[in-house]
Amino acid sequence: MTTHSRATNITWDHGQLTRADRWQSLGLVGATLWFTGLSGSGKSTVAAAVEAALIQRRILSYRLDGDNMRHGLNSNLGFSAEDREENVRRVGEVAKLFADAGLVVLASFISPYRADREKCRRIHDEASLRFFEIYVDASIATCESRDPKGLYRRARAGEIPFFTGVTDPYEAPEKPDLHVIGEQPLGESLRQVLELLEGQGILPKQS
Ligand code: ADX
Repeated sequence: MTTHSRATNITWDHGQLTRADRWQSLGLVGATLWFTGLSGSGKSTVAAAVEAALIQRRILSYRLDGDNMRHGLNSNLGFSAEDREENVRRVGEVAKLFADAGLVVLASFISPYRADREKCRRIHDEASLRFFEIYVDASIATCESRDPKGLYRRARAGEIPFFTGVTDPYEAPEKPDLHVIGEQPLGESLRQVLELLEGQGILPKQS
């Protein structure tokens, strides 16, 4: 199952249930929605609105958020290219497990490198789990004018090295599954994501 493990002599334990058993028994449909975009683009805000809407409609959903994950599982990682790669790799693996468990995972990470995001997609594909890349597209000018955490100001002052969009790259998705304009009203972004989920059969259509 795992292709990059350093351990040898390990085997995958399948348990007693298949994924279909679990999902059917509990009425679940797992999938990962991967929100990517600059800091301040609105990824986390959109993901939080989607989470609230899904829970209200009794769809088991859970957010994995960059800032939050860096308090725990990824607290030993910084913002070098290698650390961002490892950050995204770990979260991709966690998202895959949660999606397998039947959750709609809302992962919001800058995840600036295309190759790292593609790896997340690949591990989902390999596990026959659905993965949607959602590009929350706000210009650097917008993000900088919002500057909710004051980080752009500090980055411009030279206090934060390797800051995405200022002194570090961001590789925008070329063909995201959904393109959300970060400057538009939150309600419109929410509507777009719910429409995607309805179209994909993950969320029952509301009559
Ligand atoms: S990622 O690039 O590895 O995907 P992640 O989404 O986990 O980043 O974390 C981004 C958050 O960390 C930002 O929203 C911001 O609050 C904070 N942060 C601190 N330093 C940096 C930095 N150098 N570049 C970007 N974000 C940073």
